Amino acid sequence: MAGIKTLTMIKPGAVHNRHIGAILNMIEEAGFRISAIKSLKLSREDAEEFYAEHRERPFFNDLVEFMSSGPIVAAILLKDNAVVDFRKLIGSTDPEEAEEGTIRKLFAASKSKNAIHGSDSDESAERESTFFFSKKEWLEREP
Ligand code: RTP
Ligand code: MG
Repeated sequence: MAGIKTLTMIKPGAVHNRHIGAILNMIEEAGFRISAIKSLKLSREDAEEFYAEHRERPFFNDLVEFMSSGPIVAAILLKDNAVVDFRKLIGSTDPEEAEEGTIRKLFAASKSKNAIHGSDSDESAERESTFFFSKKEWLEREP
């Protein structure tokens, strides 16, 4: 059965351009419940750990540089079928390819500065949630 939890980060560019409110509004309007939320700045080491699966990729250094360049907003979101439905809401990695009305189409500057992250599996959602939050800080079910 699909999980009800996903982890998002509003990335530094979207925070800098003051899109936090608009993006959170779209997330709630799409039926996600914000279960935990915080604003923080990742260190280079934090960003390297979070995106460790991409360590060998040519874009890794740019990704780490960008993700540690300014504050982000991290949040745990709850909804049935959370991972898949949230990836639909944010759209393709490259905003040029993202569907109209998706968060990346509306707010991303480019593929490498693409406004928002969404977990790619239930296992990633679990790992990424514990990366940012202690288990005391989130609910496992909708209240
Ligand atoms: P995310 O993890 O941030 O939600 O993005 P994603 O699943 O859509 O894409 P992923 O393959 O996990 O890549 C992570 C981030 O690396 C940057 N990237 N740049 N220049 C490139 O070809 C390239 N490919 C990926 C993007 O910022 C992407 O969000
Ligand atoms: Mg990814």
